Amino acid sequence: MKEPLILGIESSCDETAAAVIRGRSLLSDEIISSAQLQARFGGVVPELASRAHTDAIGEVVPQALKAAGVSKEELSAVAVTYGAGLLGALLVGLSFAKGLAYSLHIPLIAVNHIRGHLAAAYLEDASLEPPFVTLLASGGHTAILYAKSETQFEILGGTLDDAAGEAFDKIARVLGLPYPGGPHVEALARGGNPSIPMPRMLKGAGGYNFSYSGLKTYIINYVHTAEQRGEEYSRADVACSFQHAALDILVQKTVEAAREKGTDTVTAGGGVIANGYLRESLSAMCAQAGLKLVLPAKKRCTDNAAMIAAEGLIQYRAGNFAPLSVNAAPSIPLKV
Ligand code: KG4
Ligand code: ZN
Repeated sequence: MKEPLILGIESSCDETAAAVIRGRSLLSDEIISSAQLQARFGGVVPELASRAHTDAIGEVVPQALKAAGVSKEELSAVAVTYGAGLLGALLVGLSFAKGLAYSLHIPLIAVNHIRGHLAAAYLEDASLEPPFVTLLASGGHTAILYAKSETQFEILGGTLDDAAGEAFDKIARVLGLPYPGGPHVEALARGGNPSIPMPRMLKGAGGYNFSYSGLKTYIINYVHTAEQRGEEYSRADVACSFQHAALDILVQKTVEAAREKGTDTVTAGGGVIANGYLRESLSAMCAQAGLKLVLPAKKRCTDNAAMIAAEGLIQYRAGNFAPLSVNAAPSIPLKV
């Protein structure tokens, strides 16, 4: 029997995206971003995001079908992000997906965006099977999870305050860098050294939990004090020292969790996993510990529709379909 053909749609924040998968094979992965437009305002303006999605959705979906070389009539199901995210933005993708599923008489699958980030690894390695430990680091979440099966997760620990991506965005603002901050902090850090001592965060303590507020406050004070005193400081060294402090702890605790759980496989997902320094150090630490690491391609760490289709496939196989009355959910917990 042929594997299911699933269209994924994502519109929770500033990317309008559509992708097609057949089983775990990625056939197309299209994206129209309003991030540059949003950058002018220093963050995502919800009203602008909704309008940009409305402009883009009718373009990106046919684009994804065309790139995959399939017609909409061949689809087995439509999977769409229903939360978490900006209400008006979510409604654009969700309403479009409902119309499509209704007219094609195929199932609608409502996907939790964060579960999508976790499912991205399955597209990277079609042979990947739970159990494994996952590092999730995005703009809204930072956690270490133990995947018992494709649908069952145990949360081993998470951030007690800010998410890692949020910390990158705030430090970027302090350093005068544009939104979204992560890639700009990373680029600036490349020219710097990790020479500034940083707070230890929850290193060696707090189980698999994290805390970013102390690190953030420390850097804000460091920069403001230097500026008030008219002292020279290296922005690149600040970025580099922050990046090491913020990411080393994620890598260490993820490898520790894999050891404790006795699993030989580690995966990761979310925008922060696009960071080159994190990717290199997680790869090195996993190799040292004899762990197999499955990292989604950078493009599938930040928001995309392929990951929504991948989680859609899991829900499709579980027979978990949504009624046409399903509504957008701006905030939903990880575990739904
Ligand atoms: O997963 P994502 O695209 O959206 C959410 O679901 O939140 O994550 C966005 C976050 C932002 O905070 C952004 O600054 C961060 O991921 N990010 C990065 C990098 N690329 C994106 N952080 C560090 N280094 C990067 N290269
Ligand atoms: Zn995301």
